[in-house]
Amino acid sequence: MGDTPQTARLEIADQQEDLPFVGSTAGNSGVAVTSLLKDTGYVTVDPGFMNTASCSSDITFIDGDKGILRYRGYPIEQLAEHSSYLEVAYLLIHGHLPTAAEFDAFSSRISRHMLLQEDFRGLLAQMPRSAHPMAVLGAAIQTMTAFYPESIDPMNPAAVELAAGLLLAKMPTIISAIYRRASGYAMLYPKKGEGYIENFARMTFARPGEDPDLPPALIKAIDTLLILHADHEQNCSTSTVRIVGSAHANLYASIAAGVAALSGPLHGGANEAVLNMLAEIRDSGRDVKTFMKRVKNKEPGVRLMGFGHRVYKNYDPRAAIVKAHAHELLDALGVKDELLDIAMEVEGIALADDYFISRKLYPNVDFYTGIIYRAMGFPSSMFTPMFAFGRLPGWIAQWREMMADPQTKIARPRQIYVGPTARDYVPIEDR
Ligand code: CMC
Repeated sequence: MGDTPQTARLEIADQQEDLPFVGSTAGNSGVAVTSLLKDTGYVTVDPGFMNTASCSSDITFIDGDKGILRYRGYPIEQLAEHSSYLEVAYLLIHGHLPTAAEFDAFSSRISRHMLLQEDFRGLLAQMPRSAHPMAVLGAAIQTMTAFYPESIDPMNPAAVELAAGLLLAKMPTIISAIYRRASGYAMLYPKKGEGYIENFARMTFARPGEDPDLPPALIKAIDTLLILHADHEQNCSTSTVRIVGSAHANLYASIAAGVAALSGPLHGGANEAVLNMLAEIRDSGRDVKTFMKRVKNKEPGVRLMGFGHRVYKNYDPRAAIVKAHAHELLDALGVKDELLDIAMEVEGIALADDYFISRKLYPNVDFYTGIIYRAMGFPSSMFTPMFAFGRLPGWIAQWREMMADPQTKIARPRQIYVGPTARDYVPIEDR
């Protein structure tokens, strides 16, 4: 790319505007356009923010061409192999890997808060069993504003610290409660002294009258999937969290908005959509080729779900890790899943097909995660809540960074107006 200039010169009609350059430590640098409207009367236009950096951030780095993902500088592959979800949460939120003492204090504080008050549980119990778990999850997180008013002041660092801890602590309990209610089982309580992921897995999978069977491979797989989802810089839900927070809405409200954004099938909802797509292919007599033709013909509503990414124009490094673990985990759990075979067949065809090659469409994180969650026993409607569980520390870290950044202003894009120009009101009888 050559040396980065200190300013970029823009010529509009007969005006020249020098735009300051914004440096980076890795990846693309930027050109600041904040003063453009004031100086020239023009705004920049960038639907979907394809070319717009909304902030500077030192949390997560992605190189989409090379397939690199790092949290606070640490490669995702190393974190997935050696770290734990709670340690990654600490890393994302506080910016450094914790010492043993810091980690003990952090994790024991979270363990202490995992219990949900009875009234909160009662509220979850009032939700229709048939409700989509993402609808209940969003409502539950928003409801935390009502239950923990001492933690809602976004300008009070101690309150924010408390809210972050309460969110991390209650999330597994809320998700397992949502799952159990939808499955017709009673909600369980967290156990003192049990590990964070172990507690979650037991509260989720224990069956009445049976000792829960929680093989270490299951615990490790949950932990790894949560790490892989923990942050992904300025994606749709994270940007939503930042935008809502920029109005000084509290952390719970901001994260509830992130949950809403994540529920969309083009974002976190894709893992559920992948499974539905693979099941549709299976039910059509496993006619993968016809399905691929429909994708390439761009039939309305037909996309290869779990493929493509705004940033990755190479194999999503998270998908590579999930794929590598999928067979191993299915073997450990004694599960044989035809959908995994179909997924691999679909991937094989896509990676050799010019439609996908020319558009640089590769499997993203959602392509294989659903198969793993299904092998664990989750219904597909629970896949996106598990994504939200994973993404929580990223949302918290990004919200805190946004609040601490002196450059933050309330997010308020401009528009290009293309509607009618001024006209006079017409009384109803004259229309
Ligand atoms: N299947 C078929 N064609 C695709 C796909 C796909 N999954 N994704 C992109 N394309 C085509 C698209 O039709 C377009 O073709 P053309 O140039 O002929 O018009 C080209 O590739 C560029 O696509 P785009 O929609 O402009 O790309 P985008 O950056 O706006 O969208 C995306 C990114 C992730 C929304 C999109 O790739 C997609 O819809 N993928 C399927 C949904 C999915 O798996 N989402 C999960 C994303 S990863 C996890 C997360 O962020 O939550």
